[in-house]
This record gives sequence, structure tokens and C-alpha cells, in this order.
Amino acid sequence: MTSSRISSRVGAIAESATLAIDARAKAMVAAGINVVSFGAGEPDFPTPDHIVEAAVEAARRPASHRYTPTAGLPDLRQAVAAKTARDSGYQVTSNQVLITNGGKQAIANAFATLLDPGDAVLVPAPYWVTFPESIALAGGVPVPVPTGEASGFRTTVDQLEESRTARTKALLFVSPSNPTGALYPPEEVEAIGRWAAEAGLWVVTDEMYEHLVYGDRRAVSMPVVVPELAERCVVINAVSKTYAMTGWRVGWMIAPTDVVAAAVNLQSHTTSNVSNVSQAAALAAVTGRLDDTHRMRGAFDRRRRRMHEMLSSMPGVTCHEPEGAFYAFPSFAGVLGREIGGKKPQTTLELAEVALEAAGVAIVPGEAFGGPGYARLSYALSDEDLVEGLTRLGKLLAG
Ligand SMILES: Cc1ncc(COP(=O)(O)O)c(C=O)c1O
Repeated sequence: MTSSRISSRVGAIAESATLAIDARAKAMVAAGINVVSFGAGEPDFPTPDHIVEAAVEAARRPASHRYTPTAGLPDLRQAVAAKTARDSGYQVTSNQVLITNGGKQAIANAFATLLDPGDAVLVPAPYWVTFPESIALAGGVPVPVPTGEASGFRTTVDQLEESRTARTKALLFVSPSNPTGALYPPEEVEAIGRWAAEAGLWVVTDEMYEHLVYGDRRAVSMPVVVPELAERCVVINAVSKTYAMTGWRVGWMIAPTDVVAAAVNLQSHTTSNVSNVSQAAALAAVTGRLDDTHRMRGAFDRRRRRMHEMLSSMPGVTCHEPEGAFYAFPSFAGVLGREIGGKKPQTTLELAEVALEAAGVAIVPGEAFGGPGYARLSYALSDEDLVEGLTRLGKLLAG
């Protein structure tokens, strides 16, 4: 009997469709070519000073040179519970909190802890690409539920019900969304939450962008508007996007105590605790004020409006106004097949290549997110670069 070198589980992980573009953009920059990248999935601001200072102090304390409990520093678990009550109104105890290496590990822990082989998870599409991979790695089956700009990239109870089968164990819910910038209004969050509770489904709800919502909108937390869901709900969050702390790698999952206890066991055999120094930084972040977050949100909002306006004015491009996070997800369906930069791109994957080669603009093709015909453009870049990049893109598409 022969065995392959790579396990079928890991071998099945799809190569990210963004990698080719990203690698080429980096090679062009290295060759001295000016490239404007709309690929960033992280704030372009430094982490606020008081958070960095807390980490510097922690690094000097020998106690920080040791392991912490796997589930995280008790003070941080407590502070995350308090922050959650403050920001979303969800009341939880500190033993419902597991501190993880970023939101990403919280997602992996959640699915590994909840899913048995063959369990299906409903994943509204377009989705952030890690979700289906994380579900599949845990032995589950991701079931995309398609949405488009006509519905504001939001799914509905009817659509979800149509996709539900006897194997459906959970729903993944993300609002505001990466990659679409969609935000569900409170009544829709409530309707979906009630449906899930009645159907006996688990909900894994990702609140990474809770503070990055614009205008008079607000993000609501599903277990707050549907309290009966709390017994079967996992909340994912992190300091990454809220405090410009993507590199510190601190996130958390909030879940019923039996799920947290099981996930702590899992994490104790994989990564153990999150870096002690990073936990000290996260403690300063979540116990501090949100002033810096609000300042960053102001800048994102300005760029969001500019990007939406510039994209919408390009012939053949339509753009749903992003309501949250820091991404626009325009449709390029109206320009595909036309001659652009000497080529005739038929897909957004090909269009992204042409944009990079002919205009030095990096966009992430929608294929990467289960949304062909669209592309993701981050507005977490400087106002000047944003205008420069979109001007180049507009000229390219105008021929
Ligand atoms: C919706 C969503 N969830 C989770 C994450 C993971 O964040 P982290 O860097 O904390 O692992 C991201 C990062 O892009 C995201 O967009």
C-alpha cells in the first residue's frame, strides 16, 4: 500500500487565489515598480502608544517570561468579559472566554470543537476564505449560501432554511463582513438568530469589525438580541482590527463553559497560551478607551466614501456602499470581456492580473471569496494612495 506524502486533509486545502497576485505585486515592488495595493486586510495605523508601553513593561517583568494558563491571563479573560458587556451588552463570565492567537485560532478552535465528520455549516457567500477551509479541516462540510449586491450581500431566513438539511449543525454569521463590508440591521440579525435557535443550530458569529461601522448604523450581537441562542453560540473577536493590533496575535472565543473547557483542552495540545507580552498589550487595549478606534474609524469612513464614489463613477462598475469593516466589493461584471490594457479579461481573476501588469494596481479577485465577477478593495491605505490607485484603475477601464 502506498501512502501520499501529504495527508489528504491538509492536501485538500486550496491555494489562496490571492497568492499569485500578491506574489507578483511584491516582485514588482522589489523591481522598483510603483504598485498601489488594495489588498491589505489590516489597519495602516500603528498600535496606540499606551498599548505598546504596556507590552514593553510586561516584557521587562520576569513573570511574563513564563507560560500563562492555556485559557489566558485571568485578568485578561475577566477584562474581555467586561469589554463585551460594555460594547455589545452580552453578559458573560470569564470562564466563558478563551484567549487565542488572533481571531483565526478562535475560529479554528470553534469548528474543531463543535464539528464531527460530515457536519454541515452554512456559510453565506461571499465569505472570507479562511472560513470554509477551517470548517473542512475540522472534518465539516462548508455549504455556501450565495448572496449578491442586489441583497446588499445579506442572506435571509428563507435562503438559509432552503440550504438546511439534517446534517446542518451550525451557521457562520459575520457582520460587518469581510470581504463585502455588509452590515446586517438589528431586525435581520434577530430574525436569523431566532430561526437558528428554533432549528437547534449552533451559530458561530464573528464580531471582529464590531466598531468599524459607519453613519448612524450599529452592529448588534446575535446572542444579545436572541438570548435563547446563548447556549449554542460562539462569539469570535480579537484586538486585531479594533486597535490596529494584527501583528500581536490576540483574539478570543466566547462560548458556553463546556465548549470553552473542551477548546482549552484542544489548545493546550496545540499552541498553549498566547504570548504573555501580547496578552498584556491586549489587556491595556480592552480596558482602555475607544478614542483611538474612533479616530481610525473616522479616517476609514472618509476613505470609504471616496472609494465608493470613485468606483461607482467608473463605467461598467457597480459598487454596493460598504456599511462596515474596511473593504469595498464592487462588481466588474460590466467590464469583463472588453478590451482592457491590451487583453480581454473574462474573469475577475484575469482582470486583477491586467490591473497589476498594466496599471500597477493590486486588487483581490472575488474568486478568492466565492464571489466571481467582484473584487475586494481594502480602504485601509493612505488617502493619497487610494486616490492614485483608483485613478489608475479608472483610466485603465476607460481604455
Ligand atoms: C472576518 C474576519 N475574521 C477573523 C479574522 C482573523 O483575524 P486575526 O488577525 O485576529 O486572526 C479576519 C482577518 O482578516 C477577518 O476578516
